[in-house]
Amino acid sequence: MPRILFVTSEAHPLVKTGGLGDVAGSLPVALQSLGADVRLLLPAYRDAVTRAGKLKTVASLPVAGLEAPVKILEGRLPGTTLIVWLADFPPAYDRPGNPYLDAGGQPWPDNAMRFALLAHVATALALGRSRIQWRPDVVHGHDWQTGLVPVLLGQEKTRPATVFTVHNLAYQGLFPRRTFTALALPPGLWSPEALEFHDQLSFMKAGLVFADQLTTVSPTYAREIQTPEFGDGLDGLLRHRAARLSGILNGIDDSEWDPARDRFLARNYSAGKPQGKAANKLALQREFGLPPDADAPLIGMVGRLVAQKGIDLVLDTLPGLMHRPLQLVLLGSGEAGYETALMQQAARYKDRLAVRIGYDEGLAHRIEAGADMFLMPSRFEPCGLNQLYSLRYGTVPIVRRAGGLADTVVDATPENIDRGKATGVVFQQPVTSALLAAVDRALTLWRDAGSWKKIMHTGMRQDFSWRHSAEEYLRLYRQTLRIKHGS
Ligand code: ADP
Ligand code: GLC
Repeated sequence: MPRILFVTSEAHPLVKTGGLGDVAGSLPVALQSLGADVRLLLPAYRDAVTRAGKLKTVASLPVAGLEAPVKILEGRLPGTTLIVWLADFPPAYDRPGNPYLDAGGQPWPDNAMRFALLAHVATALALGRSRIQWRPDVVHGHDWQTGLVPVLLGQEKTRPATVFTVHNLAYQGLFPRRTFTALALPPGLWSPEALEFHDQLSFMKAGLVFADQLTTVSPTYAREIQTPEFGDGLDGLLRHRAARLSGILNGIDDSEWDPARDRFLARNYSAGKPQGKAANKLALQREFGLPPDADAPLIGMVGRLVAQKGIDLVLDTLPGLMHRPLQLVLLGSGEAGYETALMQQAARYKDRLAVRIGYDEGLAHRIEAGADMFLMPSRFEPCGLNQLYSLRYGTVPIVRRAGGLADTVVDATPENIDRGKATGVVFQQPVTSALLAAVDRALTLWRDAGSWKKIMHTGMRQDFSWRHSAEEYLRLYRQTLRIKHGS
């Protein structure tokens, strides 16, 4: 079984801003349960240290250019036996709040240094340059924050294999040339064949150029990012590396997201005993201050309020939506403009639309359980986890056909319903008329109790647990090692 060093900038329940946190907090555990020897490395952010509980210092690494060594704090991912290493360097990581943004919502000014440091620590651990005896066969990094890991390891003669996973190509970690100089990277890497991207340093490109193997989080997104529309300027490079790029669908933590055991819900329920869902709907309507009404179709949304998620489309479609006999609840945080616009609309449509701005894990679970339908009109969606949670919770997803949404939701055409395959409502164009038509289709189906039950149950019976995808990652690690060793 391969030994894997999993390097990430977030992992639930230590620190989470979105789906990467969910994945990094559950995939390593799934790999471990298949027999792999996995260690998880992330920065010792202040909140992560608090949440980690018992920690002990197991190594102290000198890093070139730093006045003090980086300590490695070892603990266990809460609720699991997985070993976690927190890279402790207080000037970089001992700060409150979001791992990437300051209190004003701006990127921390020293992000390049903070995540270059994470890459140096990963490299030192991977090469056995510390007291820690354990050495990985594969170092698996995630998103731009770990893009320098394959670069630094690539400078070494003897090194583990590297895998780099793109969770979202839109966030690239771009910095000015002077940052490249300040990071003291080998000068030869300043080239369009390496780390330079239109006269900027790109951490994402670094990972894409130098990793032995590339993955992303759904098969459709793996194809999409090789096109100019979704490639964010990196599609040419991705086409060039297509033989080393694959899409592996994310799984979900099915103990954390299980309506039968979910501790956040008013009432637990399951595919076999779905009656409890109704109590969650009434509780959710009350929690949001909407009229409690079993007969009003309730649509839920949870997510980062950014253009990716189609929030502008929802805002543009609101007048039409609010003409229909439905209620809409939304939980999210993100760009100030969207937050303000949504609050204003909620004040206007008091009994129909309720908005909570903020981050609230429990409320996210209650929306998944209490809503009848879950809306994800994303402009692009590498995988998306909320639609998977919705399926499990019997909350029919209404999604745009993009990325992982296209791979996980089967449209409720009459034929798909008849064949017992339909799990949601899928629309194509990111325009108001298409979104409204999809919602209308969902409302018509909702009134047809027989079809609706069938769609709900088909969704609830899907298996999106990690087992299958974790096995795919294991196969990929083995294949990467075979290619690297030329066998
Ligand atoms: P992304 O990673 O692009 O944000 P995903 O659908 O993959 O999208 O994952 C989002 C994760 O973050 C889900 O677990 C979702 O419940 C959670 N989430 C997003 N926004 C919030 C919020 N405001 N409050 C609570 N959980 C949130
Ligand atoms: C990203 C993507 C999302 C994906 C998540 C986890 O944040 O936006 O689609 O599910 O990463 O891979």
